[in-house]
Amino acid sequence: MDKPYYITTPIYYASGSPHIGHAYTTVAADVLARYSRCMGRETYLATGTDEHGQKIAQKAEEAGEDPQNFVDARALEYIQLWAEMGIEYDGFIRTTTPAHKLAVQRVLTALYESGAVYKGEYSGLYCVGCEQFKMEDDLVDGKCPDHNIVPTQMSEETYMMKMTELQPELLRRIESRELDIQPEQFRGEMLSFLTSQKLEDVSISRKNVAWGIPLPFDPSHTTYVWVDAFLNYLTVFGWDGDADVIPVEWPADVQFIGKDILRVHATIWPAILMHLGIPTQQLLYTHGFILSGGRKMSKTVGNVIAPRDLLDRFGVDGTRYLLMSLGSFGADVDLTVERAEAKYTSDLVNGIGNLASRIMKLVEKIPNYSFTTQVNGFDAAYQDHMDHVRLYEALEMVMTRVRQMNKTVDETKPWELMKTDIAKGTEILYALVADLSWVSLHLAPFMPETTYTLGEDMLCDGKPAHLFARLEKK
Ligand code: MSP
Repeated sequence: MDKPYYITTPIYYASGSPHIGHAYTTVAADVLARYSRCMGRETYLATGTDEHGQKIAQKAEEAGEDPQNFVDARALEYIQLWAEMGIEYDGFIRTTTPAHKLAVQRVLTALYESGAVYKGEYSGLYCVGCEQFKMEDDLVDGKCPDHNIVPTQMSEETYMMKMTELQPELLRRIESRELDIQPEQFRGEMLSFLTSQKLEDVSISRKNVAWGIPLPFDPSHTTYVWVDAFLNYLTVFGWDGDADVIPVEWPADVQFIGKDILRVHATIWPAILMHLGIPTQQLLYTHGFILSGGRKMSKTVGNVIAPRDLLDRFGVDGTRYLLMSLGSFGADVDLTVERAEAKYTSDLVNGIGNLASRIMKLVEKIPNYSFTTQVNGFDAAYQDHMDHVRLYEALEMVMTRVRQMNKTVDETKPWELMKTDIAKGTEILYALVADLSWVSLHLAPFMPETTYTLGEDMLCDGKPAHLFARLEKK
């Protein structure tokens, strides 16, 4: 069997309800997966929930709930939301499942026995929001900039994983793009980090966090939540932790992440794989943050937009479109309800919706019309964008075509031509229907619901991307 094209999202902390950032990453991954399937490629999209660690234990306690019950309810929220957002994942992994836990323990035993993990002492500043040790340089006014909290000074006996000795090889892989990081600015950031700083060995266990996977060789410790979480990318296939028998889907072709979790994904994760002798992932695709009104979304500021707010107002495809049209991946993007409403109206209601209904109504005026349009696969430039995960650029190409088509309709006035010059009017309408089919096919990964219904007789046969539109006067 050929290696399937394997796409991952991060697994989301089961500490609260899904927020817009989670929806953003997951929709992007789903768009790429749908495109890949349309190309006739076997594709596997994995997502899931990250259910251990101090933060989750604290949240469960605050809610007065047993942690397992607490994470069960949160995981269900994700599963429900993804179903409502048209996310067609192939695997959903939860890190509290017995099979995952056993695999993690097996990996830890292997790392310990090979000497990659050793007992030590660690002291440092720990941010529970990030579930990460922080360096002084990472802080702003003594606080973690992502969580606005003062990290706690911690000093405890811990098991450490060797990192320093892997630094030259890690750097080589990133430089050679064997482990690629995109967009380019993030690759640059990681390269300058790895060339300017020494990679310190990392703590991979916690002594006082009960809500985690016990180390098999020292059950008084639990596994550091990030090590537990990274292995999801393999355990989602039911992998049992044996480094000699890895899933056929691995290595991941594209791992979507937000910029706040780039460093761990480009250091600790490949280090685990390198210690185990497993190939590293091929591409880390990194996005910026969604801000609202230029500020981080927060309850105190009152600018939080929940995924369900968008779904209720704009439906599945509207929400997916609005998220994917926010801007190129890389920079931070901005989302406000007012802007979303304006964009929904201009691009979807007036742009595509109006265009399609105008064309379909005019077609009715052609006497005995009967024609088939066929779109033979995706446009080369669009394919190039999608193959390089430039989803926004691909979507913009389609929207440019929509704008041109609307202009053509306004300028040529086919409804007048149908009275004065039927031949000319018919010719223009035939071309517009062909264009509409093109738009329909190219929007399919982004807006799967709308595009299958844009005109009754249009259908996408899926493999590889083809679209036929058959229109006949009944
Ligand atoms: N559980 C870890 C990931 C483990 S993967 C082995 C985690 N979870 S998270 O729930 O906190 O965040 C998951 C993702 O959401 C990250 O990629 C993060 O960048 C993204 N986002 C969180 N807030 C965001 C925005 N406001 N905007 C866009 N993405 C954001 O980290």
